[in-house]
Amino acid sequence: MKKSLIICTCKVAGLLLLLHTAALAQSDEQIYQKADALLKQMTLQEKVNMIHGSSSFTSGGVPRLGIPEWVMSDGPHGVRVEHGRTYKDSVGVNDAGTYLPTGVCLAATWNPKLGYAFGSVLGSEAAYRGKDVILGPGINIIRSPLNGRNFEYQSEDPYLISQMAVGYIKGVQDQGVAACVKHYAANNIETNRNNINVELSERALREIYLPGFKAAVQQGNVYTLMGSYNKVRGEWATHNNYLINQILKKEWKFKGAVISDWGAVHNTQQALWNGTDVEMGTDLSLGEKPDYRKYFMGDTVLALVKNGKAPEYLIDDKVRRILYVMLKTHVIDKQRSRGAYNTKAHQQTARQIAEEGIVLLKNQGNILPLSSSIKSIAVVGLNANRPQAFGGGSSQVKALYEITALEGLKKLAAKGTKITYAKGYNIKRGAKADESLIKQAANAAAKADVAVIVGGSTHGYDYSKWSDNAYDAEDTDKPDLKMPFGQDELIKAVLKANPKTVVVLLGGGPIEMNQWINSTPAVLQAWYPGMEGGNAIASVLYGKVNPSGKLPMTFPKYLSDAPDHKLGQFPADKDSNNVCYFDDIYVGYRYYDTYKVEPQFSFGHGLSYTQFAYSNLEVQKGVSNTTVIFTIANTGKIAGAETAQLYIHQQKSLLPRPKKELKAFEKVYLKPGEKKQITLTLSADAFQYFNDVTNSWITEPGQFDIIIGSSSRDIKLKGTVSL
Ligand code: BGC
Repeated sequence: MKKSLIICTCKVAGLLLLLHTAALAQSDEQIYQKADALLKQMTLQEKVNMIHGSSSFTSGGVPRLGIPEWVMSDGPHGVRVEHGRTYKDSVGVNDAGTYLPTGVCLAATWNPKLGYAFGSVLGSEAAYRGKDVILGPGINIIRSPLNGRNFEYQSEDPYLISQMAVGYIKGVQDQGVAACVKHYAANNIETNRNNINVELSERALREIYLPGFKAAVQQGNVYTLMGSYNKVRGEWATHNNYLINQILKKEWKFKGAVISDWGAVHNTQQALWNGTDVEMGTDLSLGEKPDYRKYFMGDTVLALVKNGKAPEYLIDDKVRRILYVMLKTHVIDKQRSRGAYNTKAHQQTARQIAEEGIVLLKNQGNILPLSSSIKSIAVVGLNANRPQAFGGGSSQVKALYEITALEGLKKLAAKGTKITYAKGYNIKRGAKADESLIKQAANAAAKADVAVIVGGSTHGYDYSKWSDNAYDAEDTDKPDLKMPFGQDELIKAVLKANPKTVVVLLGGGPIEMNQWINSTPAVLQAWYPGMEGGNAIASVLYGKVNPSGKLPMTFPKYLSDAPDHKLGQFPADKDSNNVCYFDDIYVGYRYYDTYKVEPQFSFGHGLSYTQFAYSNLEVQKGVSNTTVIFTIANTGKIAGAETAQLYIHQQKSLLPRPKKELKAFEKVYLKPGEKKQITLTLSADAFQYFNDVTNSWITEPGQFDIIIGSSSRDIKLKGTVSL
């Protein structure tokens, strides 16, 4: 089909979906009337059936009233491989779908429109697969570079997370499927996640760990939220009175349902009183023939209500919330649009996100883009030839296909280019360098014009022992920040054989590069770039795509530089299971900048094949908003995109504040020679901080620096405003 025809067909489909959604729109008042009418007809038993799992990924319905089971599925970057009611049920289901780049790659695009596009693909495929709730986005703060789930999450910065998550949620929910923002809250360590207790200041909670969730609720109108495994200040997060009742439901006015993480409920009364609406878990814990009435929110609830130990209105509130979401998303009247699966447009979105999310970290002597006259490339590294979709834990996706970097390069290289492949290393935790593999790789590199090493971290495939053979995986953190599987030795040997070596890193975050970074001319961070990842990597290497990704997290030089290691605690204390966030608000660049620690690559960093010039900063103070205007010009020879970042700094404050806090950004696309005026608006909230002495957000009068950067450390313009 011609490109114009595809665009036209997509536009018509989008318009039809909008008309369909508008025709079905109902006010909250109408929804509550319907919910209450249903609730009135239910027996206590029927209500209780609705507040706990009825299989691994469903909670109970009331068939007598036409309420079906509520069907959920992971996960953040694709509709998960089918689990069915039992594992046997999944046989024969068409569950090979679109595998999007993971959350951290999405955030690296710094393009909220792609957040929406990402969510739309996910929502559409979830609708097609008959899912009512999609368990994503995962938006926990990237506090430590070691967290095993950083690849699913987005950033160390709460503002960037908020901007990306809101689009994602709207994208999913506009397809008639409920999003489920997770994991609420302070779930920043995987090892021993079911037992650890997080102690943190109110200021860190409010300024760093909660804003993403608040934006999800208040700007994204997210329909469901998942309570996390850990404890916060001694109380399980999934039934935490302060987090759920006080903040989420009372302060933020969340109307939807709180779903427990799988197996995160520990106590019936606490779950009843402290805001958990649905208890989910796996069937494994209940044996071969699971009896879900044994869940904490099953038969025990019936007994407590019957014996007068718990009031029925608590259960009514939970069911009303579930019905609210079910009615909003047309689970009961089955009017939801059908969705679509594995379309070209979905695959194209996956590719665009990968292309915009890949970050060019270093490009000395403009070794990249590769010239089309290159005659031979030695591709080295297991990650060049290994799919990743099925790894990592609950976010596993059975991808319809997954283009590896090796395949992508073979497709894009000019006819006659000789491409050799050497795997260079094996995946095994703690394994030393395999000298014969290194030798093979170095020999291949010596014979080629250019060597491209694709390495970094990896996911495991084997679900039952993923913590054993993977570095980016759920339920386990990385042991250290070193290049795994002997890759330091591999890279050094390949560089020695051929100094024209490009390193492409896959993984959910930073890795120590000290042994080779100075002698490596070019490095790309490609995250887990999804099913079209190999095409995207090749396009960036060959310059078909001008890279525009920026780091959503700081890359430290050494693990010991990271704030959670330097100031705070990571992992939790082995005896008490407590973990104290002494790093407080100094997470990511807030720490590196304030404490003057030089990172390997700073937050917001990312190079382009063109250059941008910033000029003409104007800061205008209005009655309620501050407007910041400046110009960006593309001064190079090719088209490209730049993300301008606005940080503020309060010159003198009562309580200490970080040197920089991101408050706005904009990504602009510019042809060579083109310039654009950028206008960013800061509301009064942007200047506030949380004062935990008065327990409130405050705006202090005084001078604020307005800092415009191409990264958090590459500052282009500076102004001030006085409030
Ligand atoms: C994970 C969640 C996931 C759930 C269901 C849990 O182990 O923490 O993120 O949604 O399982 O698979």
